[in-house]
Amino acid sequence: MTQQTPSDRHTPVLLNEVLEFLQPERGGVFIDGTLGMGGHTEAGLARAQQAGAKVKWYGIDRDPFALDMAEERLGDAVTYRQGNFADLAKLRAKGHLEQADGILLDLGVSSYQLDTPQRGFSFLRDGPLDMRMDPDQGVTAQSVVNTWPLDRLEHVIRDYGEERYARQIVHAIGEARKKATIRTTHELAELIRQAVPGKAKFGPRHPATRTFQAIRMAVNEELESVDAGITAALDLLAPGGVLVILTFHSLEDRLVKRRFRAAGGRFTILTKRPLVATDEEVRSNVRSRSAKLRAIRREA
Ligand SMILES: C[S@@+](CC[C@H](N)C(=O)[O-])C[C@H]1O[C@@H](n2cnc3c(N)ncnc32)[C@H](O)[C@@H]1O
Repeated sequence: MTQQTPSDRHTPVLLNEVLEFLQPERGGVFIDGTLGMGGHTEAGLARAQQAGAKVKWYGIDRDPFALDMAEERLGDAVTYRQGNFADLAKLRAKGHLEQADGILLDLGVSSYQLDTPQRGFSFLRDGPLDMRMDPDQGVTAQSVVNTWPLDRLEHVIRDYGEERYARQIVHAIGEARKKATIRTTHELAELIRQAVPGKAKFGPRHPATRTFQAIRMAVNEELESVDAGITAALDLLAPGGVLVILTFHSLEDRLVKRRFRAAGGRFTILTKRPLVATDEEVRSNVRSRSAKLRAIRREA
């Protein structure tokens, strides 16, 4: 993989708000279930240190390269675990995790992943159609695009991508894959650009944005992971422990809202409405534009 450079740094979203809920200055056990570049974790550790609080901090990521880079920065202040946060319960059963006073899930991909062409996440950079957060996982974007039945692909692109031209895009994919395997991000992006009507071709967003997001969510089974991850995280909270989730997609936010409401009387929802980024944060970090933060506390 390419070396990290300062421009690869991922700017943590809603950082102060996340830390206000987690309160690492209380001390205790914290789990960052989406360690990424370690931005939230680094700030959480600093806040605990300033307060003289003792913390044990776990960092989990599906992506081994993300863990390596976070470790370069954060060293042994963090206990690193590679895995899906959907498997928090399994990690605990194996003795690799413990009950936590704070858990953070900051969903989606990091700017490092998006900016690394070989990972195939972005239509802006030419690379293999991969999109796996965990490179050991079997399904790639290439297999989804080239082998999934077209009606399934259309569902994915319409539902996850909320793409109104899903039918046209899938028709174009179907025709192209009859002739040859679609292998690269640029091939797919160009196919999409040609499939959508003129007004979508020249809109403010690249016409492939929604389809790429949808395929990424399918490749990594992101909604299924969030669903299982919430159950596991609620189970892992110690009394007084707080779970904070940052979403970037309306389906994810709806899922979190529903699951928090169904969590039961042992839990208090701390965000009646989701917190969103200020205009100032959106100006300095475009990724924060669609962020929604929800938090819940275990009482007893
Ligand atoms: C938005 S980034 C996190 C950025 C991090 N909070 C920071 O400030 O640097 C999301 C990270 O979570 C990881 N990830 C996404 N879904 C995951 C899952 N189900 N289990 C474990 N890691 C996941 C991705 O690989 C990515 O590195």
